[in-house]
Amino acid sequence: MSIFAQQDQTAEPLCVFGPRNGYSPQIGVFVSQLNWMRKVVLSRLQNLSVEELDWLPHPDANSIGALLIHLAASEVYYGLNTFDSVPWGRFSYDIRKKWGVAINLGQTARVRYKGFDLAYYLLHLADAREHTLSELSKRDDECLMAIDTTWSWGPTNNLCKWFHVCEHESHHLGQIDLILKQLPGRQRSDKRSLQRGQASRTALGVALRRAAHQIYDEVPLVLNDPVAVPLLGDRYAKALADAQEDLNEDSSRLMRAWLVARSRFAEDHLARAVEAGVRQYVILGAGLDTFGFRNPHPELQVYEVDHPATQSWKQELTEASAVVVPDSLHFVSVDFETQKLSERLEDAGLDSRAPAVFALLGVVMYLTADAFEETLKYIAGFPEGSGVIFDYAVPRDMLPDEEIDARDELASRVESIGEPFRLFFSPDEVRSVLSAFERIEDVDDKELNRLYFSERTDPLNLKGRSGHMIAAFRGA
Ligand SMILES: C[S@@+](CC[C@H](N)C(=O)[O-])C[C@H]1O[C@@H](n2cnc3c(N)ncnc32)[C@H](O)[C@@H]1O
Repeated sequence: MSIFAQQDQTAEPLCVFGPRNGYSPQIGVFVSQLNWMRKVVLSRLQNLSVEELDWLPHPDANSIGALLIHLAASEVYYGLNTFDSVPWGRFSYDIRKKWGVAINLGQTARVRYKGFDLAYYLLHLADAREHTLSELSKRDDECLMAIDTTWSWGPTNNLCKWFHVCEHESHHLGQIDLILKQLPGRQRSDKRSLQRGQASRTALGVALRRAAHQIYDEVPLVLNDPVAVPLLGDRYAKALADAQEDLNEDSSRLMRAWLVARSRFAEDHLARAVEAGVRQYVILGAGLDTFGFRNPHPELQVYEVDHPATQSWKQELTEASAVVVPDSLHFVSVDFETQKLSERLEDAGLDSRAPAVFALLGVVMYLTADAFEETLKYIAGFPEGSGVIFDYAVPRDMLPDEEIDARDELASRVESIGEPFRLFFSPDEVRSVLSAFERIEDVDDKELNRLYFSERTDPLNLKGRSGHMIAAFRGA
């Protein structure tokens, strides 16, 4: 029986440690911990192929398969020792024949445990665990605390021995994770959530903050966005309500200020370009940007481009809300890394002979240098009056010491949700990639504060050297 099945049979929540039905109080608590540990291990194994279970990061390493059978063997040995009182090292020949290779790992295990599928390992793990649980259910707390004075590292009770089984599983989980990271062909596709067909979670984080600005910040708002809250709908109403909790923490306030200033900066530049005659606006990596729904420029056509996964999620939210999609808004799904932007946009109606403004807000840092350069080259091919608005982040080593922790925290958070930062620029580097554009405005936190926050009476404002906004236009 698999551990998943064991979990499903009980109404006891996995993550609430505590006594468990069918066990003495302390044993029950320990069982809840054992189960939790196992669930974490199993969560890493889904869909592993035989080749992946056998794969060795270097010739002397253990494969994931060998590590799994080793976990099962350890549990069997500890069971024999604690339930059947077999002294360590005095296991029968039959037991050693069956489990000895697995317990010792090394070259013999590399040869023996090869070519088995995941079900084979799961079965052994589940059998060993079923036996453990059955034996634990027959014992009481006193037995759990019984001390073995002959144990090699000194007097040790059964709880300590079984805790060691759990700790040992955690130790090998670390090795399994390391191997998983190196598995050929898995690194990128497993890490990058968009590539796995999941909608962007960073886009949700941004949208929640823009919506929080509408509800919780003092008026006048930096970004007036009456669609931000309705678009999130019931599905994210609780997340939005929860956002109130950390609203005034520094990191949350600074991030919110940055995100609303970023959109406002883009929309202000767009308005100037529209006044100068531009009639096309392309939002690359639009996420849950709402400009297209509330476009105030009657002649402006808006093209929202995003990864197919993010775009279909946005369309679901749009349909579920009362938000109306105007005729001027066109959705174009493109993966910038693998698909040709120009063809998809022009099929949707974008005229490459007429000026257009492009925006990439919170997007550049997620792209490869090649994809970004290719995109800029395409934009630079549009006629005079065209431009691009985007934000970029300076490299970590250019940041003052006091900002490094915040950068690292953000980078590790976005990486953990499958959207790692990949591209940074110094102000000089950004100018050099923009060599095709004649008018370049590079704006830092101080200038954005002057533009959008200087009159505010609340503490909402920007601080930090990391983020810059660029508006780069063609023509004098
Ligand atoms: C941080 S979100 C920003 C969303 C939006 N610009 C905003 O400010 O609300 C990043 C966006 O870039 C999109 N994106 C990232 N990599 C992409 C790719 N390779 N192709 C298309 N879109 C991509 C994501 O789907 C997501 O919507």
